Amino acid sequence: MTDQTAADSPPEGDDAPAAVAITGANRGVGLAAAQEVARAGHPIILLCRSERRGREAAETLAPAPGRRPHQVVAIDLAALSSVRRAAAAVADLGHPLAALVNNAAVLPSERTESRDGFELQLAVNHLAHFLLACLLFPLLVRRPGVARVISVSSGAHYGPAFDFDDSSYRRKPYDAREAYQQSKLANVLFANALASRTRAARASVQALALGPGVYDTELLQDYLAGGPAFGSPFPVARPETAGPIVADLAIGRPGEDLNGGYFDRGVRTAPSPAALNERDQERLWTWSASVTGAPDIPTSR
Ligand SMILES: NC(=O)c1ccc[n+]([C@@H]2O[C@H](COP(=O)([O-])OP(=O)(O)OC[C@H]3O[C@@H](n4cnc5c(N)ncnc54)[C@H](OP(=O)(O)O)[C@@H]3O)[C@@H](O)[C@H]2O)c1
Repeated sequence: MTDQTAADSPPEGDDAPAAVAITGANRGVGLAAAQEVARAGHPIILLCRSERRGREAAETLAPAPGRRPHQVVAIDLAALSSVRRAAAAVADLGHPLAALVNNAAVLPSERTESRDGFELQLAVNHLAHFLLACLLFPLLVRRPGVARVISVSSGAHYGPAFDFDDSSYRRKPYDAREAYQQSKLANVLFANALASRTRAARASVQALALGPGVYDTELLQDYLAGGPAFGSPFPVARPETAGPIVADLAIGRPGEDLNGGYFDRGVRTAPSPAALNERDQERLWTWSASVTGAPDIPTSR
């Protein structure tokens, strides 16, 4: 873990701006989000696969206000043990969280497995982020006022239902685009299931999913390598322009209840019918909790 500004900072009072944790904050949409949220005065916890790339990204952020510096925490989302270590390192910082932005993603052209034996897109894009959110939930609840969990999904989530029988492509042939669609659907199913839990517990945490738009990033190149995009040609924006969209949902809109929403570039809209299937939301939650060993999120006060 690297501290970017004030090495020996004493803890601040709870009136200081709470931190925002962002996975994959070193490039693309994640970096743009980190830069915009830092400009708004929040310390950023950059959860990055490479500590060096995380440090380089942190150097591009507006300085953190007060005595809570930006922090880089190493995380390999392809290994659940690394997610646990990273969550413990974040907890050790002792900051309440204003938001967790589950942003990082992969789209490999060949079937690949995570360290724990799951298909890599399912593992990185969904399972690791599921575990991270459950482990960091107490830090979100601790924030005075509302905290948010943002699952960065995609318009690609519109499509068939989650395949509970063969989600890791052990029997059926691997299809990179289809696996991406499934992992992005899992992001929305998870956001809805978490929203139900925070609603039932009357917790001050709002869970939502975002289709951020289309940006010129490495992930887009990986997506396009699989063939022409649906509905193409479509406008491709510079990743920097994603920053205000993510920041608005993470730390903006005070007093608005965003819980359970799906946002297409910031506009609340209907997700796919598959994402609204409550049985699948709960089934995915139960399965994800059992294979990751994630702690329970309380469903009552
Ligand atoms: N770009 C688009 O057009 C578009 C459209 C719809 C949705 N989205 C969504 O937006 C989000 C961000 O995508 P992007 O386009 O900004 O992607 P990107 O530029 O390719 O960045 C991906 C990020 O994920 C990180 N990452 C990958 N594997 C990791 C691992 N095992 N552990 C930790 N970090 C890992 C990468 O870290 P390294 O630098 O270390 O590789 C990088 O920071 C994704 O959820 C994506 O599905 C993007």
